[in-house]
Amino acid sequence: MRRSLLAGNWKMNCTTAESAQLAASVAAFVAPLLTDVDVVLAPPFPSLAAVRAAVNGTSIEVAAQDMHWAERGAFTGAVSPVMVAEHASRVIVGHSERCQLFGETDADVHRKVHAAFDHALLPIVCVGESVDQRDAGIADSVVEAQLALATDGLRDEEAAALVVAYEPVWAIGSGRACDPLEAARVAKLLRAFLELRFGSVAAAGARVLYGGSVNPDNVDGFLSSADIDGALVGAMSLSAEAFAALAKAAMGSVGRVPA
Ligand code: PGA
Repeated sequence: MRRSLLAGNWKMNCTTAESAQLAASVAAFVAPLLTDVDVVLAPPFPSLAAVRAAVNGTSIEVAAQDMHWAERGAFTGAVSPVMVAEHASRVIVGHSERCQLFGETDADVHRKVHAAFDHALLPIVCVGESVDQRDAGIADSVVEAQLALATDGLRDEEAAALVVAYEPVWAIGSGRACDPLEAARVAKLLRAFLELRFGSVAAAGARVLYGGSVNPDNVDGFLSSADIDGALVGAMSLSAEAFAALAKAAMGSVGRVPA
């Protein structure tokens, strides 16, 4: 059975000192829950080491929010998978803010997913449609195409270790979360795609998260679906109390069926 996973994407927030403090508070709050839920914290690059130190001795994992695919070279401002792997066990790949604000393409996401596995980093692959794509009725084909390219050429064992986050672009940071039943429908579609490409064992192992304006009041709606294995959380991950409330909701939620 898949374990619930709750990931906090801190985005461009928190100095190193603030990160260490927030990670320590999160660790204190969620410690009793870690037997039942996997918790991942994704601070900015300069804070990776401090966060790792702050959660040392717990099962909380550290993730980078992005990375380059090359191991080294003349890529000013970029951070390589080798550098990320010194501090983190996971990496968020293809977040819509990277795509929209920094021009990252689906092909870049593909390279990054492979680079992650090549360096023993587990990717959290984000997919999601824009509001225009949803209005045009092409949300399903958009997210499927994103997942198809991102996962092209992966081995079945790698696919089984995937975390895919369905994050409709219009729901991120907007306070307008997706309808939970709709999120569950898309999550199911994504898993069906993985099953078609990688087989039922891999598809049953991969975890599909929902992300976009998740908060303690709406999280149960998402987690009550058997097709959603957890959440990728932005704003609400910057409060240790709120994040702990989400972790509590995620605890033991996997395998639940819709009410
Ligand atoms: P949000 O961000 O929870 O603030 O909407 C989610 C995300 O960007 O992953």
